Amino acid sequence: MPMRLRQVLRPYYQHLQRRWRESAWSSKPCAWQDARQRAHGETRFDALLTMASSEFGITQVPSEIEALVARLRELKPRTIVEIGTHKGGNSFLFCHAVTTATRVVGVDLCVQNADKLIHFARDGQRYFALHGDSQTEVMKQRVRTCLGGEQVDFLFIDGDHRYAGVKADFELYAPLVRSGGMIALHDIVSDHRTRYGRDTGCYAGEVHRYWAELKQRYACSEFISDPEQDGFGIGVIDVR
Ligand SMILES: C[S@@+](CC[C@H](N)C(=O)[O-])C[C@H]1O[C@@H](n2cnc3c(N)ncnc32)[C@H](O)[C@@H]1O
Repeated sequence: MPMRLRQVLRPYYQHLQRRWRESAWSSKPCAWQDARQRAHGETRFDALLTMASSEFGITQVPSEIEALVARLRELKPRTIVEIGTHKGGNSFLFCHAVTTATRVVGVDLCVQNADKLIHFARDGQRYFALHGDSQTEVMKQRVRTCLGGEQVDFLFIDGDHRYAGVKADFELYAPLVRSGGMIALHDIVSDHRTRYGRDTGCYAGEVHRYWAELKQRYACSEFISDPEQDGFGIGVIDVR
């Protein structure tokens, strides 16, 4: 085929390839099929958390994410947006532990396990993996497109942990959340490097600084396993 024609056709070919990979019919590893079926039949939080960790990888304190999921089960969100998906375990958990969700959008510079997350979505549920910088109007527009005109019921911010980064994510995406919805920030507890000058490899950035400001402005609650812990902690805002 002439080179010029190949160049013209390449984007269409890549688009079709991507749609095929994301479809239910393309061949997926048998292990994925089995695991997906197990996830669909599972309602116990502990079992789903174990799967989130073994199938994807997750960066959460179990008791904290369990408390958040319990709140979400009360909220019954249809639309969920996660900024900063990393390996995808948390997105998986939102999809399977919060079964009311019909649209779950994950944003990351590179959403790891994107195909797998799309494949694992529950029947009647769609997972959208958006690769790129969350802190742009273009990405915000892409998120809105995935939501298909609906507002966000639950927003989870766990992306750029610098002060300016977490603030930018909050200011961009919080306006998409409906009144009565919820916003959560991860890593509201400062790490030991910040607190004691001891580098343990754990990085919670400056989320705690921005969270201190948000606490003055909104009705908030916190899920913190141990106030002495090295990072982590989830802060929740009830949007009025
Ligand atoms: C701590 S990890 C997220 C962990 C994940 N939520 C979990 O619970 O397993 C932070 C993620 O944010 C992503 N990130 C950092 N800056 C970002 C940006 N500007 N836009 C999108 N993602 C970003 C990183 O690539 C990384 O995967």
